[in-house]
Amino acid sequence: MNAIELARAIPKAELHIHIEGSLEPELIFQLAQRNAVSLAYPSVDALRAAYAFTDLQSFLDIYYAGASVLLTAQDFHDMAWAYFLCAKADHVIHAELFFDPQTHTARGVPMAAVIEGLRSACRQAETELGISSALILCFLRHLSEEEAFATLEAALPFREHFIGVGLDSSERGHPPSKFQRVFARCRELGLKLVAHAGEEGPPAYMREAIDLLKVQRIDHGVAVMQDAALMEELARSRMPLTVCPLSNLKLCVVKDLREHPLKKMLDAGLCATVNSDDPAYFGGYMNANFEQTVQALNLSRDDVVQLAKNSFEASFISEERRRACLAELERVMAR
Ligand code: HPA
Ligand code: ZN
Repeated sequence: MNAIELARAIPKAELHIHIEGSLEPELIFQLAQRNAVSLAYPSVDALRAAYAFTDLQSFLDIYYAGASVLLTAQDFHDMAWAYFLCAKADHVIHAELFFDPQTHTARGVPMAAVIEGLRSACRQAETELGISSALILCFLRHLSEEEAFATLEAALPFREHFIGVGLDSSERGHPPSKFQRVFARCRELGLKLVAHAGEEGPPAYMREAIDLLKVQRIDHGVAVMQDAALMEELARSRMPLTVCPLSNLKLCVVKDLREHPLKKMLDAGLCATVNSDDPAYFGGYMNANFEQTVQALNLSRDDVVQLAKNSFEASFISEERRRACLAELERVMAR
């Protein structure tokens, strides 16, 4: 088995997937029809043709428009269930899903519909597909910290249904420090903490996320390549970085996948993982990310296994579940 075949076959965890970014154009049109929402694009093909991004913001504009078809708990369930079927095909055995409640509550969708719809898909994934999962509520960083506090308040009646909070949307000009107080409150509540940092923003934003927000993982973090001291610190502390190669390519963070820093990150001893970010928009789910990255960077079988191990090391799971995931990895490798 070569490295690509191995990458396809091994069990893995996905830790950076915006569930709204798994909405395929076909499902967007189905839900638009079901909910009588009008779309700015006449057809599935026309919508897909608009997926030519120049940077993060050019993507976010289309991503928020796509999410406008989600109204009911059933819609959120159907979206997440479609994702879990793709995850299963790619041998994802654990997934931590980001969701953006502000995108929905701003349109009058109740927080209960968002969270209960997603939770029911998570339960079904556990029983029918054997995939464990958890939800992470993301604050939109282009909005105010006050709005983040209001969102947290609205989500607290559903506290047992999500394990942590994250920070996403437009990075430049919205540093982690803007959300220091709300993250401190989330920390008191015992929530896990993550934040997007160092995708388009500078390594200083990664430092802020760690020092001020006290995050336990950094989403993206490819800007670590610009700061050798930070790289050394993060390798020593094994701070996980949830890297998304196809996203970085599609949003022009890298010009060519062959220039992606993932291999250098692994060689430096960073706890880097591979993830799909917004698979419906960026050209593929987990295995597409693995296959294209292994090919472009000529990753070895050892690199591939390290990436899978890192994904379980970085997961917010019980030690018992971690041992089971690692045992499953060993079992598949022995075949
Ligand atoms: N970066 C920031 N915000 C996002 C992303 C991303 O890649 N995807 C969905 N929201
Ligand atoms: Zn992301």
